[in-house]
Amino acid sequence: MVQIKKLFETNNQSNHHQIVGGDFELTSIPSNISDSYKLQKFGSVGTWTSSGRASLAILLQDLVKRGIEQIVLPSYLCSSILLPIRKIGLKYSFYNVDRNLESVIEPQDKSAILLIHYFGWFNKLAIELRKRSSSESFYLIEDLTHAFLSDWYTWTSSSEFVFMSLRKFGPVPIGGWCSYTYDDLPISKEIESLAWKSIAARLIRAQYVVEPSNWTDFDVEKFYLNLLHQVEVFLDQNPTVCKLPKIAYDLIMGLNWHQIGMQRRSNWLDLHTMINGKVDALITELPEDVVPLGYVIKCKNRDKLKDRLAKRHIFCPVHWQLPNIINEDNFPESVALSQQCLTLPIDQRYSFDDMARIAEVVQSEL
Ligand SMILES: Cc1ncc(COP(=O)(O)O)c(C=O)c1O
Repeated sequence: MVQIKKLFETNNQSNHHQIVGGDFELTSIPSNISDSYKLQKFGSVGTWTSSGRASLAILLQDLVKRGIEQIVLPSYLCSSILLPIRKIGLKYSFYNVDRNLESVIEPQDKSAILLIHYFGWFNKLAIELRKRSSSESFYLIEDLTHAFLSDWYTWTSSSEFVFMSLRKFGPVPIGGWCSYTYDDLPISKEIESLAWKSIAARLIRAQYVVEPSNWTDFDVEKFYLNLLHQVEVFLDQNPTVCKLPKIAYDLIMGLNWHQIGMQRRSNWLDLHTMINGKVDALITELPEDVVPLGYVIKCKNRDKLKDRLAKRHIFCPVHWQLPNIINEDNFPESVALSQQCLTLPIDQRYSFDDMARIAEVVQSEL
């Protein structure tokens, strides 16, 4: 993968984290890690926020000032994206995403179009929309949540409006980023306390999973699930509250994203070799410049399979439960994706042996 030399720097005085370009040393990394941070490619401006939704909210507030009257969303999306849009009071509609994750859209004046790069792969619709948005009166917003570790972003990057959530690719308590520089984010003590709660919950969970018998005096599982739930509820109820606490920023910067990307690629390829042709994979090729979110399979009895895998300690996210407004009458192919896709885990916590086990269990439970 491409080695990136742009580094981030923290402006501690204002507690506002801004990216600055150039070959600087990163002051906020708490360890000696110094090489190749995928995050460092996001240009020379931008704003760190508490979540993907908060990042989108910042972009939308700017675009409303520029005169947009509506946003057009893909029919296959995470429904939390609707929260900041509703909070801001912007009109929205949907364009179709088909069974191959492809779309055709005719941009309208005074609109923004949201485009998601699904699962780490480059969404080819971006080529046309990037070109047209530079000369027509609509704006393109690219969601890089699944793709911020993928190298294709470095060579195709020409986009003005980009955002992402950092929580899907690593042990990140909260965090988002957007390409618009916003200097005056309100401070929320509550979000700082939630960041600590999320960290505490994850540490306790990790200890509990390794040695459950050490924790007999209270219901540990209930305790950490409750903490994590509090974080999600707050983010849902406050989709425009933004400022990223320093502890979360330091954790994001301290992660070895290069290693995370390499391990994910290696796991995806191993799993693919083991189950290719035996499952209905949504995507069957891994280009060199893609870091995948997961290994996505399609299955008619998806929910039953998900439960059976969970009983055998393989926990698979679903992408996504769509908002009710998207249904079989208007977007049947997106609904089919939502009902059939199951994302098998290939993240950096797993090794070749884990992939072998997942391959075996999935085939036996199918
Ligand atoms: C593609 C995508 N974009 C944005 C978001 C919102 O991110 P956050 O939960 O950090 O607000 C999600 C959430 O799952 C997502 O999957």
